[in-house]
Amino acid sequence: MNTYDLIVIGSGPGGYTAAVRAGGLGRKVVCVEQAATLGGTCLNIGCIPSKALLVSSEHYHFARERFAAHGLNVSGLTLDLAAMMRRKDGVVAQLNRGIEFLFKKNRVERLIGSGRLLAGNQVEVTNADGGKILLNGKNILLATGSVAAALPFLPFDGQRVVSSTEALSFSAVPNSLLVVGAGAIGLELGSVWSRLGAAVTVVEFLPRIAGGFDLEVAGGLQRSLERQGLKFFLNTQVTAAARDADGVTLTVTRDGKDCTVSAEKVLVAVGRKPNTAGLGLEHAGVQLDERGRVSVSDIGQTSAPNIYAVGDLTAGPMLAHKAEAEAAAVVDRLAGQPTRVNRNVIPSVIYTAPEAAAVGLTEQQARDQGLTVSVGKHNFMANGRALAADTRDGFVKLITDTVSGRLLGAHILGASAAELIAECALLMELNGTVSDLARVIHAHPTLAEVTKEAARNLP
Ligand code: FAD
Ligand code: NAI
Repeated sequence: MNTYDLIVIGSGPGGYTAAVRAGGLGRKVVCVEQAATLGGTCLNIGCIPSKALLVSSEHYHFARERFAAHGLNVSGLTLDLAAMMRRKDGVVAQLNRGIEFLFKKNRVERLIGSGRLLAGNQVEVTNADGGKILLNGKNILLATGSVAAALPFLPFDGQRVVSSTEALSFSAVPNSLLVVGAGAIGLELGSVWSRLGAAVTVVEFLPRIAGGFDLEVAGGLQRSLERQGLKFFLNTQVTAAARDADGVTLTVTRDGKDCTVSAEKVLVAVGRKPNTAGLGLEHAGVQLDERGRVSVSDIGQTSAPNIYAVGDLTAGPMLAHKAEAEAAAVVDRLAGQPTRVNRNVIPSVIYTAPEAAAVGLTEQQARDQGLTVSVGKHNFMANGRALAADTRDGFVKLITDTVSGRLLGAHILGASAAELIAECALLMELNGTVSDLARVIHAHPTLAEVTKEAARNLP
């Protein structure tokens, strides 16, 4: 039987980060991945293809809506969706090859097949032909990620009722698209197809979009997206669905009244659930929590000795960088190095236009914790770079502890918010104060000056 220092199941941001790091430290590592390509959900059907389409569709939208204001007159602008999809697939393929290279460089063995835990620290790998291999691991890392959650009365059929996976590869722009769920997937992919010409309506159970984000950010984002043509039905519950040859009709309850909405396609984006099916957790004594996630300690240890779990499979935000941080921490700890994952400083971004980004506590969360907070805010409207770049929507909002001056949270709505939030995360990680931030000389003109001004605007 093959014996390894570390067997990793899954090659997403959690799995490949762990495998490459352990290989780099000289450990004998194998990574078991059932898909033909490496990189997991994030690279193949998540973060990367969605960002590629967001960029392409934003160019198209900008060319149509804003070029004239810049003195650029383009006639005959047309959409070649197949070419847009090819570019997206090319970006993914290039990054797939990048991980293959890292595996080779760090001597990570790769096995294509489905991994299942057996008792006694063994993993059985079944390949596509049904062939089986038995592996023995001193340590095992579970990183099998998550799968899209379905609604019971609206099961996925891959054609009319789809998950994000199909919505990243439509072969034609649907005339109309209903999106169920105004979270990250609904808002990002709703934006893509709206920009490309679909009439997009987003149906959301809660009275707000972008749950978890600061309310002011969510409100501003909703207004921006409405100006771009997206429609929102908030406080709305989907209760039934009927399909016919032309599309799908949903029955929804809104303000206590039933009504119907129809569209050519429905994207169900109501969250994702941990991917534990067929993993054999019961054979190894790995326990789940009340929400079906693998229970782990602070350092990723499951209830079974020498078996660890990271990423979407475990509690916490379902984000690629969270999976990566946890994976690196598990490997460092196995190597005897000091390590920790700072769960208070995990940035989160929705890549719409404008982007929404957050790190740390919202104002409400800080107040609920009994802290005395001060809020500093500044708008992009008053920033030279934002006006020059034609991206004036949004603001930076900083939440600080009035007593210590420490930054508790930052909330940004605006162009490049995903990049700007990193400065706030760094300040929080280093336990710096907002006076430090206000003193840092920022290049002029930059969008980052808005963050500095928000710090200066604190009382
Ligand atoms: P995954 O990336 O899900 O990888 C798990 C891997 O395990 C898969 O390759 C799977 O095939 C494999 N696997 C499963 N079971 C087995 C088995 N039994 N044997 C062998 N292999 C197995 N996050 C961000 O931070 N930023 C974003 O912009 C972002 N955009 C997203 C967009 C979309 C449309 C989606 C769906 C998700 C997005 N996410 C984003 C979330 C991000 O993709 C996940 O948080 C991240 O991929 C989780 O990493 P992971 O390693 O835990 O698991
Ligand atoms: P989500 O949890 O972000 O949002 C789901 C939304 O659906 C919520 O607003 C919820 O209230 C709503 N909802 C749930 N049930 C509903 C129902 N029956 N009817 C109407 N609305 C309902 O989940 P989403 O968007 O599916 O994304 C899954 C995961 O992928 C998230 O955890 C997210 O972190 C990750 N992701 C991250 C991205 C990023 O970082 N930019 C991009 C895309 C996904």
